[in-house]
Amino acid sequence: MPQKDPKSLRSYRWYGPDDLRSFGHRSRAASMGCTQADYAGKPVIAIVNTWADVNPCHSHLRERAEDVKKGVWQAGGFPVEIPAFTLGETFQKPTTMMYRNLLAMETEELLRSYPADGCVLLGGCDKTTPALLMGAISMNLPAIYVPAGPMLRGNWRGEILGSGSDVTKYWNERRAGNIDLQAWTEIENGIARSAGTCMTMGTASTMTSLTEVLGFTLPGATSIPAVDSDHRKMANRSGRRIVEMVWEDLKPRDILRDASFNNAIAALFALGGSTNAVIHLLAMAGRAGIKITLERFDEFSRNTPMLANIRPSGKYLMEDFYYAGGLPALLQTLAPHLDLSCLTVTGKTLGENISRAKIYNPDVIRSLDQPILTSGGLAILYGNLAPSGAVIKASAAEPRLLKHTGRAIVFNSFDEMNARMDDPALAVTPDSVLVLRNAGPKGAPGMPEWGNLPIPQKLLKAGVRDMVRISDARMSGTSYGACVLHVSPESFVGGPLALLQEGDLVELDVPARKLNTLVSADELARRRSAWRPKEGIYPRGYGKLFIQHIKQAHEGCDFDFLEGTAPIPEPEIH
Ligand code: FES
Repeated sequence: MPQKDPKSLRSYRWYGPDDLRSFGHRSRAASMGCTQADYAGKPVIAIVNTWADVNPCHSHLRERAEDVKKGVWQAGGFPVEIPAFTLGETFQKPTTMMYRNLLAMETEELLRSYPADGCVLLGGCDKTTPALLMGAISMNLPAIYVPAGPMLRGNWRGEILGSGSDVTKYWNERRAGNIDLQAWTEIENGIARSAGTCMTMGTASTMTSLTEVLGFTLPGATSIPAVDSDHRKMANRSGRRIVEMVWEDLKPRDILRDASFNNAIAALFALGGSTNAVIHLLAMAGRAGIKITLERFDEFSRNTPMLANIRPSGKYLMEDFYYAGGLPALLQTLAPHLDLSCLTVTGKTLGENISRAKIYNPDVIRSLDQPILTSGGLAILYGNLAPSGAVIKASAAEPRLLKHTGRAIVFNSFDEMNARMDDPALAVTPDSVLVLRNAGPKGAPGMPEWGNLPIPQKLLKAGVRDMVRISDARMSGTSYGACVLHVSPESFVGGPLALLQEGDLVELDVPARKLNTLVSADELARRRSAWRPKEGIYPRGYGKLFIQHIKQAHEGCDFDFLEGTAPIPEPEIH
């Protein structure tokens, strides 16, 4: 039921007036077969679609856009599909993180520069979710997210395979000589069986789930497998709902508040989610003018049980999670840790959205009495190696390594690491601490997912499967191991990792939240005075802009000029 005057719609400025410019807009709409009956007095809904042939996780999104359009028409809106930069984790180099802010900027400016009254955002592969939302939050038009959905379970010789997690596991077995090429090729063909995002609780499923918790999807949307017919129905309902949202004038910054982010952080730990979510939530909050810090993540981690038994920290996959009741059922269980009064795109509260959810498999979604982990899935570390913080997913590490002292083996670049790691002469033991530097936001640049450093081959053959590893990089949400990540400030800008030398003692103490080198302060000061910054690798272009404006990991890696809520004028139409 319209609650706004159609003449107050943003799109009316393009289509409504009796003037020269509007004549142009209407005549070109006519050239595409549209009559005034299609759009006059109706909300124009931009369907921002990150479909591309080069992004397998989104390969079904052209079809889903049609389902959304059907819903928009049904509800009396006018759908316009607008393609946006796809961020495909598998093919895009050097890393999609290089382009998250570019897609965010593109989304905001697409919405600003075209006659959109509201938008439906189609994405799902890791960085697309935070990017699309960051842009939509900044533009602050009514917005609803349609997550791509996870792919079906992987299968190999009757064994269930999970994206990413099982790649690392079986690659290690191959390097150890336990798997032949025939088996490896079969795994290659069985691990990704359909359209959709990685079906472990990697970064994609973590970020789409947190998007639902923040209130930006229809209830239960994120758990539906990409190729399930329920996914099409969800897309259709999202198209219908966005038209209502425009009439209700329900905008992202009406939905988001401090408590919404607390809910998302609690859900991150209950899901055993990806460390990447820390960076993305910091950035998303910054777009809403809400300040959250690393300390808040640590505080919630200490108090939130892990309830989702999903790989890489648990046993099952997203398809099982869906059949077990999905995210609404998990949130229902987690309710004592949530603020259920937060508003969502349904126009109802989070509590109202999940009130009828039920758990159908209590081994997949655990009760508060029988969690996978009582607390501490992730820890924020500080110390003389990470003055502004570092992150470790403690739940994915071998427990014996959570308190560990060892001698550093330092790699200055990914290529150097690759060249030395399997050298039989490398003086490495299971107690060594592997360090990779120049892998942060400015240093790599783009902070790629290099933080899950490989185990040296000679140790793999001796049965070692986990070691302490430290870097200023990120790690794939599907990875596991005692990997200290996001060390901030990064080495490239002179963070203390830059001062570490081969053989230095490094002490990791997760229970005490410490990351230190035992090198004396005097010696570190001496090394600092001799340290010189390296040149960036981009003399021009987007890479140059990126390095000039990217912020550090503990601040969310947004561009400094994109943060905040300062109002930007609507475009003039002349
Ligand atoms: Fe796209 Fe994992 S590669 S979600």
